[in-house]
Amino acid sequence: KGWITGNLYMYQGFWHQTMRIISVETLMALQDTFKAHPTDIYLVTLPKSGTTWLKALVFAIVNRKRYTNGSLSTHPLLISNPHNCLPFIETEIYANTPTYVDTHSPRLFATHIPYTSLPQSIIESGCRLIYLCRNPKDVLVSMFHFANKLRDKSGSLVTFEEAFESFSKGAMPVGPYWDHVKGYHKVSTEHPGKVLFLTYEGMKVDTLNHVKRLAKFLDYPFTEEEEVEGAMQEIIRLCSFENLSEVNKHGNLREGIPNAAFFRKGEVGDWTNHLTNEMSQRLDRITKEKFHGLDISFNQGS
Ligand code: A3P
Repeated sequence: KGWITGNLYMYQGFWHQTMRIISVETLMALQDTFKAHPTDIYLVTLPKSGTTWLKALVFAIVNRKRYTNGSLSTHPLLISNPHNCLPFIETEIYANTPTYVDTHSPRLFATHIPYTSLPQSIIESGCRLIYLCRNPKDVLVSMFHFANKLRDKSGSLVTFEEAFESFSKGAMPVGPYWDHVKGYHKVSTEHPGKVLFLTYEGMKVDTLNHVKRLAKFLDYPFTEEEEVEGAMQEIIRLCSFENLSEVNKHGNLREGIPNAAFFRKGEVGDWTNHLTNEMSQRLDRITKEKFHGLDISFNQGS
């Protein structure tokens, strides 16, 4: 039984929902219909790992010339949710136009799909992927609040203990958490030029350097002139939690999903306010075992 909405099903080693995030039917349909281009860029995350922030940053970096030359007040991130600027292949693209064609290059997409279940076309196209992960305890806490926000109306809220038990057993959409991270970490070490592996914690500690790295990886590096003019700082401000949460105070992204649900605290280490010592130690043990021998660290808050 899922702790988000509906039941969870195991498919190709990962848990999926019948609705929302990704269904098994969607995965199979995408496998048949989705056509990737070699120039595409895919932003990959587990839910609640900083997807919204990454979408905003990548969209702002790639499109900066389109908006800085005109009036900044028309920038989409000043009036809209980053999720409206950069689509998920498993929801917007699949649901509306399975044979989506975008004339802009590079096409920017997001996905939560585990590496081994990605449409073969993405893997064969040789396109680039950016993977963003976050320490498991903050993902759990963030998912717990998000899930309960979406369940508000039904009144059947889950307790943190229930969420913790499910998460520890791997039962979250596209979980187990650890397997999702490991799948992308492996390809990032095998193909560093194709897969950029980032952490939410690293982005929080040194946002400027990460924006620079992202721009370089995307083939949209900042010129010296732009650096002097503060173009990176401007993008950081535009994509900041403060700005995005203010812009998205009202309205819904889709039916039943308020824009505001994507902006809660935006901090590292909020897990200390939710997990008991025992819970924390149990997750530490699982993480240590699952990530044994891998160079995956969250610097703080893990
Ligand atoms: P918290 O619930 O811990 O606050 P996702 O975008 O993958 O759904 O992840 C949501 C998490 O990212 C939430 O974490 C949210 O507050 C945080 N977040 C959203 N926008 C952010 C931003 N611009 N900067 C930093 N964190 C952000």
